[in-house]
Amino acid sequence: MERTFAIIKPDAVAAGHAGAIIARIQDSGLRLVAAKTLHLTKAQAEGFYYVHRERPFFGSLVTFMTEGPIVAMVLEGEGAIRRWRDLMGPTDATKAPKDTLRGTFGTSIERNATHGSDAPETAAYEIGFFFSGLELADL
Ligand code: RTP
Ligand code: MG
Repeated sequence: MERTFAIIKPDAVAAGHAGAIIARIQDSGLRLVAAKTLHLTKAQAEGFYYVHRERPFFGSLVTFMTEGPIVAMVLEGEGAIRRWRDLMGPTDATKAPKDTLRGTFGTSIERNATHGSDAPETAAYEIGFFFSGLELADL
């Protein structure tokens, strides 16, 4: 069983798509282990996207990710990392197939509705960034 980290980004939350996205997650068979709404500070968004700090879009990405509340989630299932990335579709929402989340709810390469971890190491880092052990325990 694998876990991945997912975000419903500020564009999709503001547009009222959080419920529809969570429904698509559950329809896909992935289990929603934990979820919370929060509004990231600039320092928190910079920390989360630290790997992209040298990229030309970093400042714009941080501004976008702090413009409103997000929904942070942990998803679980066989091959959860790959399955969630497939459900989201490619980064550029304008090129994403219409049956993917980014194709349905995203509007640009930046405002693309959702985030997903890209590897087991990043999933572990990102889950730990947002959730404590207590919030993830099956008790
Ligand atoms: P994510 O990390 O959010 O799941 O997205 P990703 O792996 O598909 O894409 P990544 O390369 O990690 O980029 C992170 C986020 O930065 C924004 N972005 N803007 N303006 C641009 O050229 C550009 N490229 C990427 C997107 O919001 C992307 O999801
Ligand atoms: Mg990424």
